[in-house]
Amino acid sequence: MQDVSVHETVWVLSLTLMAVVATIFAWVVAGAARGGVEAAPAATTAYRWRAGLFWVAAVAGVLIAAATLAPWPIPGHARGVEKADLVVQAKAHQWRWELSRDSVPVGKVVEFELTADDVNHGFALYRGDRLIAQTQAMPGFTNRLRVRFDAPGEYRVLCLEYCGVGHHAMRAVINAVAAQ
Ligand code: CUA
Repeated sequence: MQDVSVHETVWVLSLTLMAVVATIFAWVVAGAARGGVEAAPAATTAYRWRAGLFWVAAVAGVLIAAATLAPWPIPGHARGVEKADLVVQAKAHQWRWELSRDSVPVGKVVEFELTADDVNHGFALYRGDRLIAQTQAMPGFTNRLRVRFDAPGEYRVLCLEYCGVGHHAMRAVINAVAAQ
């Protein structure tokens, strides 16, 4: 449900911005048709506006990026999790996941050691439809991703980077079970 409202907001925002750009465009065209304004003073004003807008856009860009990227499930955040209780090796192949185990104890910190056999893949861990952690699985490298499995149940592993015709088939399930 949340996705739908986010998409709608982005869509409305896009339409609004397009309308603003179209209006400015029409205003400029209409001005030119009326005979325009003197070029030199108009250019000076425009340059001043452009310089101001550049800084507004630059500052807004940095603030928006900082605010929206901070809560993302990127490995930097996962690294902040305390030390791992157990390690799971995960190797990506075209097109399947090879996991050293498919069940983990609830409440423990699991460190995934990720690599790939062939091309770059994306290891994405979902609880329901929510992405809770992800990083790349790359040939020749081992990437580490620490995740605490807070709730029992099924967690889905999907590939998050397009890796060929079987990309969509790269699925696996990890079960978080109550510790014995
Ligand atoms: Cu592996 Cu997409």
